Parts: sequence; structure tokens; C-alpha cells
Amino acid sequence: MGVGLPLARVIDAQDVSARRARPQPNDRFVFVVGERKGRVISLEDLPPGGAPLTGYPMDVATGIVRDDSRLNQVLLVRLDPGVLDAQTRARAAEGIVAYSAVCTHTGCDAWDWQAASGTVKCPCHFSEFDLKAGARVLNGPAQRRLPSLPLKIADGAPVVAAGFVGRPGFESGGA
Ligand code: FES
Repeated sequence: MGVGLPLARVIDAQDVSARRARPQPNDRFVFVVGERKGRVISLEDLPPGGAPLTGYPMDVATGIVRDDSRLNQVLLVRLDPGVLDAQTRARAAEGIVAYSAVCTHTGCDAWDWQAASGTVKCPCHFSEFDLKAGARVLNGPAQRRLPSLPLKIADGAPVVAAGFVGRPGFESGGA
């Protein structure tokens, strides 16, 4: 006994690892940028037909936001459940779908929303992904779909139901 790190350092190390951990079941989401940065994203923030939001997962029990890896950025948007393919619908909650917000080509994380088609286009090299169909690649150069993140609803907010399906990241790696 008496051997080991002081308690404060142990807690710090746990916080760092929680901040880097990928989204975990029951995590909520908080806004990544803007005047609402850090605020929990609720259903009202995701109206049908609204543009996608980018969120970081947050451990509800500790309030720790998992923002120490940009690969934890998640794109959230509410679509008409009727236009989702079966697998995407199974992972959605009230039409809200979630995907890694980091382009699988070379890692850009800004998006042009194309509401009429339910698709997003990466402004860096124009890869296009179909959010209605598991974010499959419609146009390259990206080779790989955006990993999806299954959702459920709890207390009026989208919540992580299970971890990423697929590995978030891009062709040259990324952590
Ligand atoms: S980084 Fe998105 S298309 Fe190249």
C-alpha cells in the first residue's frame, strides 16, 4: 500500500482517457462550436428538415466531453424516417441519424448540406455521402463510407445506443 499515483493525478489520467475515448452507450452530445458550444443537443435542436449539427459525445455521469480527439466529432441530422434504408432506420432514432463528422478521404470536417437529397458533400475534394443509406460514398475520391453511430432517445435528447460501426478516421490515418 502507499504505492501509486496521488489521487488527483489518477483522476486527471482518467479524465484524459475519458476525453479521448470514442462515443460510449448513453453518451449525449454537446455543440462543438458557436454560441451554444458545450450545451447539450436536444431534439428541438434537430427539427425535421434542419441542417446537420456537429456534436461531441459527453459522458452524462461525469459531464466529461470527449473532445480530446477530433475523430469524436459526430454529424447529427433529422431525416424523414421513410427515406432511410432499413439498416440506417434501425440505427436512427426518430429519424435522427449520426455519423463520424470526419471525411474518410483526408480528414476534413466541414460539410455542405444538400437538403433535397439528404446528402453531404465535403468541400475539400468533393466526396459525397448519402446520409439516408449509411453514408455510402456517392462520389469519390473517398473510398469508404462515414462510420455510423447508432442512436436512441432519452429525456428529449439523442443519445448513443452503441459505438461507431466502422473506424472513424481517414486514409492517411488520424487519431
Ligand atoms: S477530405 Fe473530403 S473529399 Fe478529400
